[in-house]
Amino acid sequence: MNRRVTKAVFPVAGMGTRFLPATKSVPKEIMTLVDRPLIQYAIDEARAAGITEFIFVTSRGKGALEDYFDRAPELEATLRAKGKTQLLNVLGATNMDSGAIAYVRQNQALGLGHAVWCARHLIGDEPFAVLLPDDVIAAETPCLKQMVEAYEKTGGNMIAAMEVAPELASSYGIMDVAPGVGRVLPMRGMVEKPAPGAQPSNLAAIGRYILTPDVLRHLGDIEAGVGGEIQLTDAIAREITQRQNVHGFRFEGQRYDCGSKAGFLQATVAFGLARSDLGEELAQFLGDMMVQRQAAE
Ligand code: G1P
Repeated sequence: MNRRVTKAVFPVAGMGTRFLPATKSVPKEIMTLVDRPLIQYAIDEARAAGITEFIFVTSRGKGALEDYFDRAPELEATLRAKGKTQLLNVLGATNMDSGAIAYVRQNQALGLGHAVWCARHLIGDEPFAVLLPDDVIAAETPCLKQMVEAYEKTGGNMIAAMEVAPELASSYGIMDVAPGVGRVLPMRGMVEKPAPGAQPSNLAAIGRYILTPDVLRHLGDIEAGVGGEIQLTDAIAREITQRQNVHGFRFEGQRYDCGSKAGFLQATVAFGLARSDLGEELAQFLGDMMVQRQAAE
C-alpha cells in the first residue's frame, strides 16, 4: 500500500517582482483574489486532499504571511464584543492549529528545487506534496485531491499536467510522455524551460506535485540547471531515469497563472463571477463594459 500524503510544501520565498510596486511591502501570496489571499486557496486545496502538516519555505520580508495564519486576539475580541459572529467564523477558517504549520527560510534565491530541498528535515522519509500558490486551479474536485486519489493506485511521483500552446512551452517544465489517452501518463523524461521548438511535447507541469523522498535526495546533489537555479524538474528527470515511477496527471479543472498580471486578473473575474454574492453584479458590469468598448471602436 502506498503511504498517505500528509505533508505539503509551499514555496513562498519569491520576491514577486512582477507585481511591483505592490509587492514592495506585501508578499505576493497575500494579494487578494476576490477577498482571500492567494495562499488561502492553496491551503484549502491541500486540506481538502488530506494534508495536515503545512511547510512554508519563506524568505526575508514574508512576516505578513506568518501573521496571517496566526490568531488575531484583538481583532477577535472586537468582533466578539460587537456580536459579529459571521466575520469571526471567516477569521476562524484562517487559523492553523498549533504545530500544523512550520516555516523554513530559504536564505538564497537558488530556485524552486533548492526551496523544496530547504524543507528536507521537516519532510523526512515520506512522500510529500508541493503546491505553488501562483497556480490557482478551479475544479469541482480540488486538483491535489484528484492527484492523491490517482496516486493511491500508482504510488511513485505524480505531477499535474496541462497542454499549453507550443509558443508557451519554454516557460514551463515540459513532460515527455508515452502516448496515452487516460489521465495518468507515465513519463519518459522531463525538461525545464526547453528552448523554443525543442520541447518533447506540449504537456506542461503545473504547480502541484506528489513526490517521493528519492526526489528530495536528488535535489541535494544535482547541479544548477536553467537560469543557474537548482530545478525541481531536473531532480524529477533523474528519478525518471533511475526508477521510471513518475506520472503526469491530466487534471480536471481550470488553471489560472496568478504569477502573471493577466492571469491574476482573469482569475479575479472568473472567481468573482462564480460567487453567489457578486456574480450577477459583476456579469452586468462586464457586459456593459464590453458594449462600451465595442461602441468606442
Ligand atoms: C515552475 C517550475 C516549472 C513549472 C511551473 C508551473 O516554474 O519550474 O517546471 O512548469 O512552475 O507553474 P516557474 O513558474 O517558477 O518559472
